[in-house]
Amino acid sequence: MRIIKVSDKAVGEMLGKSIYSSSCKLLLSKNTVLKDNHIKSLDKNNINYIYIDDDMSHDIELETYVDESLVMEAVSSLKEIFNDTGFINGHKSASSMIPMDDYNHVEKIVQSMVREVYSNPKMLYNMIELMGTDMYTYTHSVNVAVLSILTAKSLGLDKKTVEKIGIGALLHDIGKSRIDNELINKPGKYSTDEYETMKEHSKHGYDMVRSDTVISPITKQIIYFHHERLDGSGYPEGLQGNQIPVYVRLVTICDMFDAMISDRSYRTKMSVYEALEVLNAESVYNIDPSILSSFIENIAVYTVGSSVQLTDGRVGIVVKNNKAYPTRPVVRIVDLETKKPIEEVDLMTNLTSFIDGEYEI
Ligand SMILES: [Fe+2]
Repeated sequence: MRIIKVSDKAVGEMLGKSIYSSSCKLLLSKNTVLKDNHIKSLDKNNINYIYIDDDMSHDIELETYVDESLVMEAVSSLKEIFNDTGFINGHKSASSMIPMDDYNHVEKIVQSMVREVYSNPKMLYNMIELMGTDMYTYTHSVNVAVLSILTAKSLGLDKKTVEKIGIGALLHDIGKSRIDNELINKPGKYSTDEYETMKEHSKHGYDMVRSDTVISPITKQIIYFHHERLDGSGYPEGLQGNQIPVYVRLVTICDMFDAMISDRSYRTKMSVYEALEVLNAESVYNIDPSILSSFIENIAVYTVGSSVQLTDGRVGIVVKNNKAYPTRPVVRIVDLETKKPIEEVDLMTNLTSFIDGEYEI
C-alpha cells in the first residue's frame, strides 16, 4: 500500500484502504478500482490523500497503533457529543454538559486505545489520513489522543494517569461544539473577532465538564489549558512555565504537531520532518524540551507508504521504519518509467545516502 495525492492520475488505481464520508459511512471500499466519478466524489468529500495498492507497493503493510474500527468508533463518539451539546438546526442545544453515557463511551474507547498502544512497544506513529478536511475536529482529536497516550507512556507515567490524559486529549476541543460550525470549518484565515470567538472553545469545553464529579481534574485541565504556552503568550489564562501542568504541556505538543501535519481547507499540510523542526524551534520558548524528546522518539519521520527522494536522486517508497533511527527507514527504490521496484535500501546500513524530502510518484 502507498499514499498518493487525489488527482486524475489516480484513475485506474486500486484503493488499498476503505474511505469514509463525513457521516462515517463507507464511501469507497478497499480494492475499488478508481474511476472518474470516484475522484469527483473524493474531491466533493474533501479527501486529498488516499492509499492505493499497486505493483510497487502491494506487500507494504501499514503500521497503526490503533485499529481502524476503534478510530471510527472514537470519531463517532465525538460526533455524538457534538450532536448532544452543540447546535441543532442552527440553535444551541439547551444542555452544554457532556451526557454521562457519552462520557462513559469515551472512557471505554480510550481504555481500548491505551491497551492497543501498550501492546505495540516497537512501533512508530504513522500519520494516516482516512477522512476529509471537514472531519478535522474529530480526526484531529483522535490523533491527539493516540499521540498523547504514546508520549505519556514514554514518560513513564502510570497507566491510570495515561488514561486520564488520553480522555483529556480526545475531548480537548469539545468546546468547539458550542461554536458555530460554519466558523469552525471556514476556509481561509479568521478575522480578529472570529479568532477571539474561536479562542472561547477552551472555556466552553471547561464549562461542559467542570462540575462533573466523575471526570478527572487531569482531563478537565487539559480541556481548559491546552492553548497555554510556557512564555505566557497562550490562552485563556496566560499561564507561564510550571503553572502549566506537565500533562497539559504534553497534549499541547501533540495538538500542535497534528495541526501542522493535517490537511486543511485553507492550506496544505506540512511534512512530519518540517513539523518536528518547528516544534524543536518552539521548544526554546514555548514548549517543554524534555516532553518533546519523549514525543519525538515515537514519531515516524517518514510515514510508511509515503514516497521520498534520496540525496543521490533515486526515488522510492518507505517500506519500514526503524525506531532507533527514525530518519533512516528502509526505502524501496522504484523505476519511475516502468513503475516497478528495483531494490530495497536500508538507510541504517547504507549511510552514504539519506532522505532529501517527499516526492510525488
Ligand atoms: Fe483547541
